[in-house]
Amino acid sequence: MTTTIAEIRSDTASVEDRIATLLGEMTLAEKVGQMNQAHAGDMDPVEVLSDALRAGRIGSIINQVDVATVNELQRIAVEESRLGIPLLVGRDVIHGFKTVMPIPLGQAATWNPEVVRQGARIAALEAAKSGINWTFAPMIDITRDPRWGRIAESPGEDPYLASRLAVAMVEGFQGDDLAATGTIAACAKHFAGYGEAESGRDYATTNIPENELRNVHLRPFRAAVNAGVATLMASFSDLNGVPATGNEFLMRQVLRDEWGFDGFVVSDWNSIHQLAVHGLTADDRDSVLAASTAGVDMDMAGGVYEGHLADLVEDGALDIEVIDAAVANILRTKFRLGLFDNPYTDPEALPANGSPEALATAKAAALQSVVMLKNDKGVLPLSKQDLDRVAVIGPLADAPYEQLGTWIFDGDTELSVTALQGIRELVGGDVEIEYVRAMETSRSKSTQPFDEAVAAAAKSDAALLFLGEESILSGEAHSRADINLPGAQAELVRRVRETGKPVIAVIMAGRPLTLANIVEKVDAILFAWHPGTMGGSAIAELLFGLESPSGKLPATFPRMVGQIPIYHSQKNTGKPPTPEKVVHIDDIDAKAPQTSLGMTAFHLDAGYAPLFPFGFGLSYADFDYDNIRVSGSEVPVGGVVTVSAELTNRGDVAADEVAQLYVRDLVGNVTRPVRELKGFRRVRVEPGETLTVSFDLHTDDLAFYGRDNTLMVEPGEFHAWIGGSSDAPLRTEFSVVAGD
Ligand code: BGC
Repeated sequence: MTTTIAEIRSDTASVEDRIATLLGEMTLAEKVGQMNQAHAGDMDPVEVLSDALRAGRIGSIINQVDVATVNELQRIAVEESRLGIPLLVGRDVIHGFKTVMPIPLGQAATWNPEVVRQGARIAALEAAKSGINWTFAPMIDITRDPRWGRIAESPGEDPYLASRLAVAMVEGFQGDDLAATGTIAACAKHFAGYGEAESGRDYATTNIPENELRNVHLRPFRAAVNAGVATLMASFSDLNGVPATGNEFLMRQVLRDEWGFDGFVVSDWNSIHQLAVHGLTADDRDSVLAASTAGVDMDMAGGVYEGHLADLVEDGALDIEVIDAAVANILRTKFRLGLFDNPYTDPEALPANGSPEALATAKAAALQSVVMLKNDKGVLPLSKQDLDRVAVIGPLADAPYEQLGTWIFDGDTELSVTALQGIRELVGGDVEIEYVRAMETSRSKSTQPFDEAVAAAAKSDAALLFLGEESILSGEAHSRADINLPGAQAELVRRVRETGKPVIAVIMAGRPLTLANIVEKVDAILFAWHPGTMGGSAIAELLFGLESPSGKLPATFPRMVGQIPIYHSQKNTGKPPTPEKVVHIDDIDAKAPQTSLGMTAFHLDAGYAPLFPFGFGLSYADFDYDNIRVSGSEVPVGGVVTVSAELTNRGDVAADEVAQLYVRDLVGNVTRPVRELKGFRRVRVEPGETLTVSFDLHTDDLAFYGRDNTLMVEPGEFHAWIGGSSDAPLRTEFSVVAGD
């Protein structure tokens, strides 16, 4: 009997039965085909891929975005191959497709899962219109290293924030029903530990003790799996001596046995072949054996599964059951996507790209992502009534491509509203605007055009400096060892400062930067990340006070690069520093004439505090937290404690605030962080209004992996803080006590 696509489509049997039927029909070559993701490079895909598609040797294609071509490739797979199994069509749709949302780190700065979910939904709709049914997002690598270029596409340093956003993105891409029009399969990546790359050098080695891996790095992946993420991607990196792509502990023990994941795992681009480059295996054949045994179901663009899997099975080196399980995982995903019933894309069934809704979402995300780091004497917001003239200066003021950030293969620069455009549109009728680019790129070293910038500033009532990094300075393989503003930007700031005019820096960048060398030389700083398509409109509205900044840092900003890794949830150490204990290198003779230099954990030249802490962000409102309390001083294991505080807006404008809850477990089976984020809420507060912000904490929320790497909730004392950053001073206590 030969099963045809028609039979599989009309089959009323369960998905598992249909998978079993198909597996029973498939030859070994066809099974291997499902595990092979192909790409056509720069060549004509129909010409290059047709024969292999007809032979059932390709299960997925990557990087085809022309819908007619995708439909044709799909047609060949479905109608001209023996079993008619449809294709997964993969693409990196990371923070938008044609309409670009802020970079993921910027989205994390919104602390708003709802806007992040909406952004992913818009991205899915636009990508699906091109025939894409699988995105390689969300990227949920925790990182504490802003040198790492991929921090731009990450949710930052905190596993709780990352977990909330991971769920939001999975929900946004996949919707309630993966088979619906306009939803696409998500891929949680990079499993796991990639964000710990030594010295922030991309692809570098990671060494993460299992306890730290479980308590920090695996948490967002667990959340994504619980939210139903369809696929995971194995990381490029070496984890504790076993590169993730060959890491059985990650993909078999944790992912399958402990978490019960039943979707599939794809390698990273050619990462199976790279197992030999790492030195884990001798050659491709060996690498294929290692990766498939460890649990990589599909080979992304490497061609090595295609080259070696069948031989390995035929030689008895690899059990066919490994292959069958992998193919079942892939077919299951195709069934869930509804591809057997509806393999083709009708672009007309989906909204136009860059729709009003898409642009509104991109603008809302950008508005909420911008973090105000400084606002001396209330220089912001600007008022058009008080200004005759402003100077708009800098390489990123009018850069429709750069503001989109990394991973924008498909981003439409025509849709971009730059800051210069946004400002002109908003106040151009009332305020004279002089624009001086001053630097060719953010990296330029020439100071020659600075005279013109200085002259423009001198003639104006305020200078708006658009500084930062162009998009190429962050993202994959774009790490930096020096994370100051590049090129001659610090000098530009110094020169403009000399005019004595108010200087407002708007910084667009793909990472936290070290700003210590400019922070005192400007009156205000808006940190806008790479804000995406609508970044310019959002920035203009924030500058002129139509809305208040409300973003909060998703990653700590160090003073100097030597402080890295620096993050809010560090451990206490046995010698925790305090302000009184810190001695600065310049004060050694005066303060510590003998040998004692404080004897605590700090740097002589940087102290121990960051420049701006995690969770920090200023507002045009004036928020005040008070009266923190708990619903009961004791909570039994299995119970819930509510931690509340009053939040008052003492300012005179309405604004959003992100109220944050942090907890410390004072004594642990393994030492616990000095503070851990356990809840947050974005709330709108009117002038003069007082709101109660409450967080329900189940004792499960306090669980952690102990010495034996199992999850535990320990009775004991806890501190809890509520406030507007990880430095929040307002504290209360409660105890967890043994349950009945
Ligand atoms: C990246 C992945 C990406 C893949 C496909 C790799 O180099 O690490 O994140 O999804 O390429 O473009």
